[in-house]
Amino acid sequence: MAFPKNFVWGAATAAYQIEGAAYEDGKGLNTWDIFSKRPGMTFQGHSGDEACDHYHRWKEDVGLMKEIGLQAYRFSISWARVLPEGTGKINQKGLNFYDRLVDALLEARITPWATLFHWDYPYSLYCRGGWLNRDAADWFAEYTQAVAKKLGDRMKHWITLNEPVCFIALGHQDGIHAPGDKMGLKQVLTAAHNTFRAHGKAVQTLRSCVKHAKLGLASVGLPKSPASKSKADIDAARTATFSVPNSHWNNAWWMDPLLLGKYPEDGLKIFGSANIPEIKSGDMREMCQPLDFFGVNIYQHEVWRAGKDGKPEKATFPPGIPMTTMEWPVTPEALYWGPKFFHERYHLPIAITENGMGNCDCISLDGAVHDPQRIDFTQRYLLELGRAAADGVPIEAYFYWSLLDNFEWGYGFRQRFGLTYVDYPTQRRILKDSARWYAKVIKTNGACL
Ligand code: GCO
Repeated sequence: MAFPKNFVWGAATAAYQIEGAAYEDGKGLNTWDIFSKRPGMTFQGHSGDEACDHYHRWKEDVGLMKEIGLQAYRFSISWARVLPEGTGKINQKGLNFYDRLVDALLEARITPWATLFHWDYPYSLYCRGGWLNRDAADWFAEYTQAVAKKLGDRMKHWITLNEPVCFIALGHQDGIHAPGDKMGLKQVLTAAHNTFRAHGKAVQTLRSCVKHAKLGLASVGLPKSPASKSKADIDAARTATFSVPNSHWNNAWWMDPLLLGKYPEDGLKIFGSANIPEIKSGDMREMCQPLDFFGVNIYQHEVWRAGKDGKPEKATFPPGIPMTTMEWPVTPEALYWGPKFFHERYHLPIAITENGMGNCDCISLDGAVHDPQRIDFTQRYLLELGRAAADGVPIEAYFYWSLLDNFEWGYGFRQRFGLTYVDYPTQRRILKDSARWYAKVIKTNGACL
């Protein structure tokens, strides 16, 4: 399988999921520090208090990245570690942690890609209304400037937000993620609107602070793949990929405003004018800033076809379809049709900012961690991604989720996504077989697939 010449192979993590040191060196509280302590909200009450102790073991972890041969590393910056109150006074110790990490990555010839916000919202700002407050966009811009001024001379790849639909819908409507609120639809859509405005302001800030910046966001990608190669099924799958049913789990509501500068018509109808947030003049222009790549996290798809009446209808998976430990179906074609449809609509080069699997990994009697399922899963998905590239979709990068086993939000440490096994009681790292396999994929630029 021939991947594009300058294709970038990486792995991804997020601050709250790996850093630990939740109360150290001046870091402020974030909503996950609080929410993870609420009884019943995380598996066995697990939290990111220590996580993978990456805050203290970052040098060792950069060593692992070197051993795998990563060309890029996507990590997130803990907003409250840099600005303990979310705005105002900068915590230099917090900023210095990322400063050292970036230098070590560059020293190891690994390109750093930073995600500015990966769900760990400063608790002080939450207490001031959080994403419901229109000032949230300016708070995010202030944080962006503080970090960009420190790191922008060396770090050029920036992702503003990770999966707005997740932290808005799960955290503000379903209440199963931090901050654990169950708001009404109008409030949820207002919070979403302010995150979009925050994205736009952050992009403008980065453009002014970082020379040659490469900017994007990391959306949740929920592609719908066609049940057959017929034109009717492909058209139905494309339509379904961008329709807004009466649910948050869609693509267009969370992508069109930022990429096309408008909300999708069917969404406006479905949600109803009473629930549409106040859209001030200039808002849509401000949130729709030119981007350099379309970052998208793709794990799975649904299968759709043209129904008898020609309308798109969802097909069901056959019983026994392979599943990961997250009970997500293994659907490799998601990495063909997702990039294809997203590029057709948004006309940007594609970066797969996350793809990977939860697996029941353990340390075998021989002391190694054998994970053939992860190798097979990743090979299948990468073959489909390579096929999309061969069919002309400009795909620039792939970040395996994740470098390390880590805190999987509500699942706590029960789910293992890493290329590296983490023995939490000792914090020992063991590269899994998949890490050594991925090293070969990187070395051959996918030719060994
Ligand atoms: C997400 C988040 C990651 C998850 C990963 C596995 O996409 O949900 O970006 O933080 O850990 O996707 O669920």
